[in-house]
Amino acid sequence: MDIRIAIVTCSDTRDLSADEAGAALEELIAQEGWTCAGHVVVHDEVDEISAAIVAAADEARADIVITCGGTGLSLRDVTPEATRAVCDRDVPGIAEAMRAYSMTKTRRAMLSRAVCMQRGGCLVVNFPGSTKAARECWEGIADQFEHAAKMTAGGGH
Ligand code: MTE
Repeated sequence: MDIRIAIVTCSDTRDLSADEAGAALEELIAQEGWTCAGHVVVHDEVDEISAAIVAAADEARADIVITCGGTGLSLRDVTPEATRAVCDRDVPGIAEAMRAYSMTKTRRAMLSRAVCMQRGGCLVVNFPGSTKAARECWEGIADQFEHAAKMTAGGGH
């Protein structure tokens, strides 16, 4: 089953050409035979991040939006707030699984405020911003993406 996954990197310092974590996610998407539905870099601003999530979900028709970065404890980290602003329902199990798996890699994983939520038929997942962390989070949850996307889009078991 194809899945359309959009990447929204949230960073005050990176542009698209310097977005190593986003490029790694593009590769991982392609390796599964899935489609990258878009890849943008926005500043760590709630309005910019929310708008990019809405565009990816509603215009680019992504099944899943992966945000990358801005989930930590600094005051500039606002990705979870931007996600909440444009999503309807929490999917806590995915965020919990991501953190549990990440804790086996580094105890710093407890410093991530990442959330996973649904916006209509689209699943939005917050990943951390480093390339290593993004790869690890993918490893921890991507095996459930097909089923999660199908259920979010309204499919039955
Ligand atoms: N998760 C994994 N799997 N691997 C990591 O190295 N780094 C943590 C955490 N989650 C990390 C991780 C660190 S150091 C921080 S500060 C938080 O993610 C938030 O990262 P972000 O601000 O880039 O989103």
